[in-house]
Parts: sequence; structure tokens; C-alpha cells
Amino acid sequence: MKPIRVGLLGIGTVGAGTFNVLKRNQEEIRRRAGRGIEIVMVADLDTARATELTGGQCEVVNDANLVVDNPDIDIVVELIGGYGIAKTLVLKAIANGKHVVTANKALLALHGTEIFRAAQEKGVMVAFEAAVAGGIPIIKALREGLSANRIEWVAGIINGTTNFILSEMRDQGLDFDTVLKEAQRLGYAEADPTFDIEGVDAAHKATLMSAIAFGIPVQFDRAHVEGITKLSATDIRYAEQLGYRIKLLGIARRTAAGIELRVHPTLIPARRLIANVEGAMNAVLVQGDAVGATLYYGKGAGAEPTASAVIADLVDITRLATADPEHRVPHLAFQPDAMSDIPVLPMSEVTTSYYLRVCVADQLGVLADITRVLADATISIDAMLQKEPDEGKDHTDIILLTHQTQEKNVDAAIARIEALPTVQGKVTRIRLEQLA
Ligand code: NDP
Ligand code: HSE
Repeated sequence: MKPIRVGLLGIGTVGAGTFNVLKRNQEEIRRRAGRGIEIVMVADLDTARATELTGGQCEVVNDANLVVDNPDIDIVVELIGGYGIAKTLVLKAIANGKHVVTANKALLALHGTEIFRAAQEKGVMVAFEAAVAGGIPIIKALREGLSANRIEWVAGIINGTTNFILSEMRDQGLDFDTVLKEAQRLGYAEADPTFDIEGVDAAHKATLMSAIAFGIPVQFDRAHVEGITKLSATDIRYAEQLGYRIKLLGIARRTAAGIELRVHPTLIPARRLIANVEGAMNAVLVQGDAVGATLYYGKGAGAEPTASAVIADLVDITRLATADPEHRVPHLAFQPDAMSDIPVLPMSEVTTSYYLRVCVADQLGVLADITRVLADATISIDAMLQKEPDEGKDHTDIILLTHQTQEKNVDAAIARIEALPTVQGKVTRIRLEQLA
């Protein structure tokens, strides 16, 4: 059978990785796919670099429209990123009847509904394994491997850049900006690294996982997004003393009232496997009613790990290209006419545990005042740490871990605690998950 013909849009970090792995392992991949998979055309703004990277083995153009309009191309691989030109090109490729592979979580988290609908109507596939957790086949696991289960929750370290920053800051004592620059140099960070450090990239990925896990539309606009920029070394230290690690987690959880969809720094018991995922590694923990907990671990970013996922999608499409569209795996795991309208909950309705750090004057009755406020708000205390004031200081930190409660109870309690005359400044609140 003649090889399937691929057009590559963007030959940057992931594009170059994809070109190299496909070339290096072409024989193995052909034996798996049943036919060869060849990149025959590459579009990139820097054509000189693209020509050098591809060694003159395929046509290089600087106008990506030439690729998506080329009738000889079967599959378009979009590795440009962002939701500007990438969206136009993906929709045009679909309209031209081409299957699409993309690593672009931002595009799908914001415009997935439109893109998947267009693909459905045209009978083509849009595959996006690389969009979540880089080289870890988590999309395939959720969509196919766990399809017997009612998924209860998914929680993951799904941004390599922030995990790398947190690990290096803790282990090497390096400062935030130095580690971020290193993550950029290693090709982990997004074109705009604020997407990484402010939790947006993780929220894109959590949004995609929530859709596949629960059969709901992609709803990035309903996600709660909080990054690591406000996290202080003090809280990382206190968390360690209490037996916890702080990780940026993406969480999607099914509750009776709706879906929790949130990204924020989270205390996790240090003894959990996932708490020990370091550097740019990713890990996703999935709780299914039949299988129980399963954990997926691996490289979440970088050229070849991400290429591994891109090429797995190419193999899948090559195998299924001739299958009747009605009998392919649905883009979002559930059949398009069987999606659920269960709502995504506002953050005030989310239930979790909390780490609270309160800076107080070293005076009689301060702790009693705080615990009374918490009791009034029906918040039960799980653990507490009170430090002696530093030499010459008249204030100190009280750290409280709470049992599970609704976020709105904690909002109300924090407002009352901050109004106490003995409390200095803002209360630091970090959410805590046992992930048991
Ligand atoms: P890069 O910035 O390294 O690569 C993007 C490439 O696209 C560059 O070579 C760029 O050229 C080219 N490009 C930009 N605009 C156009 C255009 N209009 N036409 C043709 N080419 C264009 O990004 P990455 O490879 O890191 O990321 C690609 C995608 O993969 C993104 O969606 C990202 O979120 C996703 N991803 C990345 C991972 C990673 O580890 N890096 C992991 C998982 C997903 P030029 O440089 O000349 O502007
Ligand atoms: N910027 C992303 C990360 C790339 O750091 O995880 C992988 O999606």
C-alpha cells in the first residue's frame, strides 16, 4: 500500500522531534501502521532552518495554506501553537477533508467544540494525544483503556515547566526566574511562559481531560485557574514540616452537584507516589469505579516525548483512515449525541481541605479567636502548627490544616479572620487533597 502523506505545520521543538523520530523509527512504525507514514511537506516561517532540519527530504514552504490546500496530503499535523493562525489552518484542513493531528491544547480547550463538530460533519479525525501530558498516553487511556469505568476523578501534574520550577527551587535552592529560563532553554515552556506559571496551560489540559472523562463539552471558561507565582518558599517549607508536598495540580472531579474543574497549587501527602514526581515529569492519577486508582507517569514535555504522542496519533489515523466514520473512536470518548449537560461548578461550591497560614500577634486568646471563627463556619481542624516568634519579633505564624469543607465556608472564615485585630495581613490559603 502506498504511504500515507503527512503535511507538517511548524517545525519547532515538537515538529523537529516528530520529523526525527518518524524518520529514525520508520520501519518499526510502518510495521505497526500497516503502511508507511511520510512527511512530504513542511511549512515554517523560517524556511532555511526547516530545510536544514529536514535535510532536503521534503518540500519546504513558508505559507502553511499551501500544505492544507494540497490535495495530495492525507493528514495535517499542526505544531504551530496558539489559537490564531493555527485555528484557521486546522478548520481549513478539516474543510478540505484532511485528518488532523495537533499538540495544541490551547486551541482545543477554547475552540474544541467548533473543531470537533466540523470534523464530525466532514467525517475526519482530530487526534490530540500530545496535547495532554506530552508523551504519556493519557488520552488513549481515558478514552479507550478505561471505557468500562464511571470515572470519578482525575488529578494530575500536567505542566512540566511548573513542576520543574517547584522541584528545582526546593532541591537546588534556585530562584524562580533562573529556573524558568532553564525550562525555556530546554523547550518545556510555552511560547508565552505566563501560560505555564499562571496555570493556564494546565487548565487547558484539565479541561480536555474533563471532557473525555465525563462526556461533557470542553469548557475552559468554567475552569478555576491559579498558578504558582504567588506561592512562597515559607509555605513550601511549612508544608514539608507537616508531611506534605506542594504541586500544581489539575483536577476534574464528578460530584452529585456537578463537575469540579480546577488548577491550583495543592498540598499532597508526601508519601503518595504522585507527590514524588519531580522535574519536568508529569503524572496523572485516575480514579475509576471498577479499576480503582491508576497512575500514568512520564515525560510531559520536550521534543521527542511529545513527538512520541504525535506519531502514535499518526499511526492510529493510518490504521483507521479507511474505517467507516461511525465506527471510529469518538473524538471526546462519548458519542456526540450522548454528551452530558452536568454543569461545571463555580469554585465556591467546590469541596476540599485547606492549608491556612495566619500571621498573628503573639498574644493571649489569638488562637481561640481563630478556632472560634472556623467552628462558626463549620470548618473542622485536622492539624495545627504554631511557631515561636523569631527573636525580637512580636508576631508569628499559625498554620492550620482543615478537614474537607466547601470553598464558600473558607472564604467567609478567611474574611472574618483577616478582620481580627490580632491578625496581620492576608491569610494564605492553599488547597489540600489526600488523593486517597
Ligand atoms: P515552537 O515555537 O518550538 O514551534 C512552533 C513552530 O511553528 C516554529 O518553528 C515557528 O516558526 C512555526 N510557525 C509559527 N507561525 C507559523 C506559521 N504561520 N506558519 C508556519 N509555521 C509557523 O513550539 P513547540 O514545538 O514547543 O510547540 C508546538 C505546539 O505543541 C504548541 O501547541 C505547544 O503547546 C504544543 N506542545 C509543546 C510541547 C513542548 O514540550 N514544547 C509539549 C506538548 C505540546 P518560527 O520559530 O520561525 O516563528
Ligand atoms: N509548556 C508545557 C509544559 C509543554 O511545561 O508542560 C507540554 O504541554
